Formats: sequence, structure tokens, C-alpha cells
Amino acid sequence: MKIIRATEYNDMSRKAANIISAQVILYPDSVLGLATGSTPLGVYRQLVDWFRKGDIDFSKVHSVNLDEYVGLAPEHPQSYHYYMNENFFRHINIKPENTNVPNGLAEDIDAECARYDKLIADLGGIDLQLLGIGHTGHIGFNEPDQDFDKMTHKVKLNQKTIEANARFFNSVDEVPKYAITMGIKAIMQAKKILLVANGEGKAEILDRALFGPVAPAVPASILQLHPDVTVVADEAALSVIQKNHPEALM
Ligand code: F6R
Repeated sequence: MKIIRATEYNDMSRKAANIISAQVILYPDSVLGLATGSTPLGVYRQLVDWFRKGDIDFSKVHSVNLDEYVGLAPEHPQSYHYYMNENFFRHINIKPENTNVPNGLAEDIDAECARYDKLIADLGGIDLQLLGIGHTGHIGFNEPDQDFDKMTHKVKLNQKTIEANARFFNSVDEVPKYAITMGIKAIMQAKKILLVANGEGKAEILDRALFGPVAPAVPASILQLHPDVTVVADEAALSVIQKNHPEALM
């Protein structure tokens, strides 16, 4: 695992965007695994900027997103479909038919999960998976104490996650209670993983995820067993690691 230290949010975003950009320049037909949330917004902004300058071409890229709320239509402003279109897809030249987000409105959620796993397999797997980390240590919507052995599946969201995500809704009651997420097993099958984290609020959980025991209590801890993980985090998010494991920081 490589840990890359960034000074602050913009620096984290630029460094992570550089890694994604290198992937797409070297392998224009890459399959990118994408995440939503606040953390990657700057990464997408930077990639859009470089696209506009003519530095990156997404015309052969395929994308698969990690997760989607159950019950939200793609046009709902808090759906992850909407987030991806607004913050990334509509600003670049990725083909809409090459972008994939789980369908939270599917009548048969289990069939939708199976379809999603098959789609990823048919694309030849994910070349580079971008991840954020939740305060609970979740990746995707894989909350603590679930099986590590899951592909795409439906999850009941943890109360802490519902509260954390309430900031995007009018009230906590509007936050969906269920989501579809790629499971830990599906995430671990990505060839490369790029985890981004910023801010003091992530410092404790980042330390537990990267240096604590590998256990379902901290879902992101499984990443310690992945052969190709790069973490790009700002100083605030690295502050506990800096204290406990200074030798790990370059
Ligand atoms: C988003 C996702 C989540 C977020 C995590 C961190 O697709 O799967 O795991 O990455 O909740 O969210 P932020 O970046 O908002 O702190």
C-alpha cells in the first residue's frame, strides 16, 4: 500500500486526479470504478478541467459506480446517478451508454445486483476503483460487521451513515434507508484501488482502516489485503497516522 500525503483538499484532489488521468492516458479503454460523496468532488472538478484543456480523452472509458440509493430515480437531485451526471459525466466526453450506476428503482433488486456483477465481469473487471471512506469505515455502502464475501447486494444503511448523509437532504427522514452497493468482494476484485480522504473527521478511522486489525468492524481494513492500493489523503486526515505510524508516510 502506498500512502501519498497531500497538504490540503485541493492538493489531494489534484494528486488523485493525476493518478486517474495517468490510467486513462496509458489505457484509454480503462474501466473506472467511481464513487460519490464530498471527497471526490475536487477530483472530478480537476479531471473536467484537464479534459477541457484537451489533456484527457474519456471517449473509450467505461465507468461503473459503487452504489445507489434504493428508491431514488436517476433525476432525483440526491441520487448518485444525478451526482455523477452533474459533477462529472456531462462535462466530459464519456459516452452515456458507457456509464453505469446501479438502478435503485429496479423492481427486482436482487436481479439488478446480479445484472451489475455480470456487467462488471463482461467489461473485464474494474481497472482502477476510486473510493472514499465513511466515518464508520465503510467503503461503498458496506457498513461495519457485514460479510467480506459479498458481491453487489442490497444493504440497510447504518444510522451513523444516514445522519452523515442527511446534510444533502431536507431532513434526516428523507434519507433512503436502503442502498445497492458493490460488496467488499466485488471491490477487492478491482485491479487497482485509489482511496481518497480529507479532513480531521477521517483521521481516526483512516488509521484504524490502514493499520488496525483486518476485520468486518472496519470494512475498509480489508484493503490492507489488496495488492495494489494507493491512498491519497491530506494532512488533517493523516494526523492520527502521523502520530501512530510516522514511518508509513512519505
Ligand atoms: C460513495 C460511497 C461512500 C463514500 C463515503 C465517504 O459512493 O460509496 O462510501 O465514499 O461515505 O463520503 P464523503 O466523501 O462524503 O465523506
